[in-house]
Amino acid sequence: MNQETTRDRPAEAPRPGVRAALLRRKPVADLVAEGGHGQGGDLRRSLGLSQLTMLSIGATLGSGIFVVLGEAVPVAGPAVVVSFVLAGITALFSALSYAELAGMIPLSGSSYSYAYATLGELVAWVCGWCLVLEYGVSVASVAVGWGQYLNELLQVVFGFAIPDALSQPPGEGGLVNVPAIAVVLLAMFLLLAGAKESARANAVMVVIKVATLVLFCAVAFTAVRAGNFSPFLPLGLAGMSAGGAKLFFSYIGFDAASTAGEEARDPQRDLPRAILLSLGIVTVLYCLVAVAAVGALPWQQFDGEQAALSHVLTTVLDNKLWSALLAVGAIVAISSVVLTVLYGQTRILFAMSRDGLVPKALSKVDPRTGTPRINTVVVSAFVGVLAAFVPLGKLADATSIGTLFAFGLVNIAVLLLRRTRPDLPRTFRVPFAPVTPLLGVVCCGYMMFSLDVATWIVFGVWMLAGLGIYFGYSMRRSRLART
Ligand code: ALA
Repeated sequence: MNQETTRDRPAEAPRPGVRAALLRRKPVADLVAEGGHGQGGDLRRSLGLSQLTMLSIGATLGSGIFVVLGEAVPVAGPAVVVSFVLAGITALFSALSYAELAGMIPLSGSSYSYAYATLGELVAWVCGWCLVLEYGVSVASVAVGWGQYLNELLQVVFGFAIPDALSQPPGEGGLVNVPAIAVVLLAMFLLLAGAKESARANAVMVVIKVATLVLFCAVAFTAVRAGNFSPFLPLGLAGMSAGGAKLFFSYIGFDAASTAGEEARDPQRDLPRAILLSLGIVTVLYCLVAVAAVGALPWQQFDGEQAALSHVLTTVLDNKLWSALLAVGAIVAISSVVLTVLYGQTRILFAMSRDGLVPKALSKVDPRTGTPRINTVVVSAFVGVLAAFVPLGKLADATSIGTLFAFGLVNIAVLLLRRTRPDLPRTFRVPFAPVTPLLGVVCCGYMMFSLDVATWIVFGVWMLAGLGIYFGYSMRRSRLART
């Protein structure tokens, strides 16, 4: 018996025409006017250019370079260096579009908000749902990787590792992944302390991870042999581009600064700079690490091992100390990915909640710390449970597809806003538009279609679940439905 009364029911608007609901767009001026405001308090504008750049580097530089490099070398050979450049160029097209939109619509919702202004509510919801894959699900799988590195460090230094029962989820030989919960909780407490405090901790971690990679380059360069680069393309151009598609993962995260749009001191000026600066720094670093790695160790000796960089140094220099040092670097690197990506997820949901598409509690701001407290706890609990108890497998693979979809939409949003709102002030303009954003769309589409069928199926199921939530909940609770 379900006798819901009007008083029991959450405030709801009368059903709008479905078509009108799906296509309703939020005017840019309204979006921008809401910036910074939450329920019960406002977010604090405390982040400057260097912190925003560090935020994006923090979210980008992680398991891609420490782990995925080892999987890409067997596919591309020494040409993996060019694979990094190719993946970087693909990321650059979208980064330029992010830079234009982040300077114009500097909101926590990032691409979700850009889509809301241009493509309508349904596409915006789909974009936000994809961002949950890019941020929420990926941070859970990154937390799992953190535990693996922790175990490696414990093994090298103390000769023991946390048993599988406590470091693997059910279904993968364990009961619960305790290290994954630990790193998520750590990030949660930092985020609850405040955006500024989190940014400070992140900056320290970014310095350590960059220093680790620079140290790797300095040591590995002493062992570089010109012969290791020849033949340069043993697996052909196809191998080189397949390597690029694999390595695209290592660039995901450059967009994280755009989720800090409501906490930046001068977002219009600093967000475009932070996004492009972080991508530039990361690309140079990746290429140097790749040259050093395949120059020091013949490419045939990479076999997809998890700790590729420490494999290079321990093989070439025959000294276990490097394993420990690189494991520490990787642990710090991945910790800062967890912190910054978790931050991004909370802010995206904050914007979606303000628009009424997810529960209101997620946009409540604690007046004392200026952070969305309930949101941070809920997101951390979701991510922690996912990381601790769920074998993520294919769901984690679907993060790239979700990310590419969101990036594609950002390029389309630039094209649309150039036509519909040429008058809006832009602090950064994508050069050579519409060619560059169009190339961005094509690159994202190409990369999406180079992913395997199983990943597409998982993505399809994820999307169906998202559409179910939209039609069952969000559509009628949308704030636009009530205006
Ligand atoms: N780019 C991030 C990493 O490599 C996702 O870990």
